[in-house]
Amino acid sequence: MIFVSLIWIFPLYWLYLIKDGGRNGKGDIFLLLNSNNLTTLICPYPLPPSRDNMPKPALSKIVEEQIKKPSPIRQIMKMAERKNIINMGLDPDDVISFGGGWVNHEAPEEFRKSYIQVCSDKKEFHKSGAYSATPGDSDLRDLIANYEKEIFGIKDLTCDNVIIGQSSTQVTHDTFICLADPGDAILLLDPTYANYPGQMDFALPNSKILHLQVLDPATWTYLPDVNKTIEDFKSIFSEHKPKLVLIPSPDNPSSKMIHPELLSTMRDVTKEAGSFLLIDHAYKTQYFGDSPPKYFSWSPSEHENLVTLHSNSKWARGLGRRLGWVEAAEHVIDGMERIQQCSILCPDSLHQMAMKAYLSKALEDGTLKQYVEEVRRSYEEAANTTISAIDHHLGKPRLEPDGGLYTVMHVGEDSDEFVLRVLKNTGVLFIPGKGFGESLKNGVRISYGPWVGNHEKIKEGMERVGKYLGKN
Ligand SMILES: Cc1ncc(COP(=O)(O)O)c(C=O)c1O
Repeated sequence: MIFVSLIWIFPLYWLYLIKDGGRNGKGDIFLLLNSNNLTTLICPYPLPPSRDNMPKPALSKIVEEQIKKPSPIRQIMKMAERKNIINMGLDPDDVISFGGGWVNHEAPEEFRKSYIQVCSDKKEFHKSGAYSATPGDSDLRDLIANYEKEIFGIKDLTCDNVIIGQSSTQVTHDTFICLADPGDAILLLDPTYANYPGQMDFALPNSKILHLQVLDPATWTYLPDVNKTIEDFKSIFSEHKPKLVLIPSPDNPSSKMIHPELLSTMRDVTKEAGSFLLIDHAYKTQYFGDSPPKYFSWSPSEHENLVTLHSNSKWARGLGRRLGWVEAAEHVIDGMERIQQCSILCPDSLHQMAMKAYLSKALEDGTLKQYVEEVRRSYEEAANTTISAIDHHLGKPRLEPDGGLYTVMHVGEDSDEFVLRVLKNTGVLFIPGKGFGESLKNGVRISYGPWVGNHEKIKEGMERVGKYLGKN
């Protein structure tokens, strides 16, 4: 790159220094200008570097590469920032966003009180300022095992099958490093959670990401023929031997649950090949219907190659009170402990103490079960309102959620353009589907999570978009 700096020499002359890469020195080319002529000189001496043009130390290649491919979701959320909304001529307070992948129910009141208890007791608060054990507090790990037994019927899970981390995002990253090597093949669904490919690139450079298509964009159906998908899975697996198969359930962005037969096949095939089946249970408590699928009670003590990822973000509305955990066979937990020594040293003590106090009470008096039940029902109702509003106002193909916070809707055109057009004309924000996979490039993700307590906004948002699309 050529940089030009301008230096005042004396009244008649301007001196331009043309140089490459910001380094001043011997051999740089000067252009001396006065009113009559142009002279070129080659500098015979090194010159002190100019501060503005000092070369910046390069970041790592992987970071430079990742910066060049920013997440499409982050881009759209940036576009929806207040100042950009104002620039579009819209009132930010009038925008209805279906963009956020977050929950909006209240955390259990007793959980809040347990924070107060820790903070108001001088000794307890002092204790919360200490490091915890690297895999987390062993009593809390026991309580998490009990929670899984109580809510989902997981048997034979003990403290030794649980490691607590900073969040499900952090434990996911560390789990990738624990279970696979750079360059290994990894199998994901299409569509799937948009953060995985970036996480893979950082944790497992040069890994080969394979996709199993589960959404048919032509008919807008999820797993329209499960036997065919099972065959597709077997054939991809036997060709590429992925070290990891990663499935979110309930899924983000589709909110579908993977078919039990497909999941059993994945478990057996990976087991036989010495690979891992990783289930991301970020939305585990937001299952709909009367009971969770049977595989929610699979235990890693029964299935040595099963690893499950968990988060405090969604069940207890702890998105900002960061805590997550992994359930796995003991040798995996040992491996994870070694990685956590280097990645986070230990999980947050204050959150662990508050969670321990809350869980020990709420498991005993039955209020945990009641809380989970009420919360999941509230998301089911928000999902029903969303689907009815889409059907009524838009009449576009969409998926019926089995849990979670989302649905995906077919828009029949490039979703980036659709989202921008709809935002500008209605003040309603959807998320373009492209970032979740090829199958969603003409679809959008719609999150009802933030509107769980305000269904009127869901209806109003769909009505506005319906009116606008009806006119076009
Ligand atoms: C499928 C999935 N996994 C993991 C996460 C991140 O969870 P956490 O807040 O615990 O990092 C999300 C967040 O939206 C998600 O959708």
